Amino acid sequence: MKFFVDTADVAEIKDLAATGVLDGVTTNPSLIAKSGRKFLDVIAEICAVVPGPVSAEVTAMDVETMLKEAAVLRRIAPNVAIKLPLTWDGLKACKALSSEGVACNVTLCFSANQALLAAKAGAAYISPFIGRLDDIGEDGMQLIRDIRRIYDNYGSLKTEILSASIRSSEHVKQAALAGSDVATVPPGVLRELVKHPLTDKGLDAFNADWAKTGQSIL
Ligand code: G3P
Repeated sequence: MKFFVDTADVAEIKDLAATGVLDGVTTNPSLIAKSGRKFLDVIAEICAVVPGPVSAEVTAMDVETMLKEAAVLRRIAPNVAIKLPLTWDGLKACKALSSEGVACNVTLCFSANQALLAAKAGAAYISPFIGRLDDIGEDGMQLIRDIRRIYDNYGSLKTEILSASIRSSEHVKQAALAGSDVATVPPGVLRELVKHPLTDKGLDAFNADWAKTGQSIL
């Protein structure tokens, strides 16, 4: 499973990119607002750090303006993926852009039927929001399983499942078990993934025993 980080915090992205685990980045208007920075500048900086796809979301509601915004975003860098909402206009924009070879990430997906529509419109990625479904008492992970099964039923559908709205390390594990192609993970959750109490305990024991030897590698 590929890891994208779900943030517009460039310092976080730089630090995580140095670990080699980052395959891409996703942003959305809320994350840009949280950064307090200019959208186009932030996307340009992220694209310079991460060679993988960097999702930048259009804000228009109609297809004509979406395509104009997409043209501006595409000029920033070749690795910009255009994020489009799961509406009929978003699907039309997806069809037009994907026909030109542009990677589109169709977002705000909450049902398997929506995911099927996005795949038929040529989306490179579909973003089902796990956490927000859990928030309303539904099983977000079941949506990932359903989409996986549907996409696997039809070999012509090449869309990658990008599990989004991930809130915990358990979400990450379950998404991988469900066969999600990508998980976009908030930095805090991504940092949690390395942690295990037995790793810390084992390291403490190794360090204590090493100190007893009185040796130094350098
Ligand atoms: O970027 C889309 C998605 O990951 C947002 O997550 O936590 O705001 O539901 P969240």
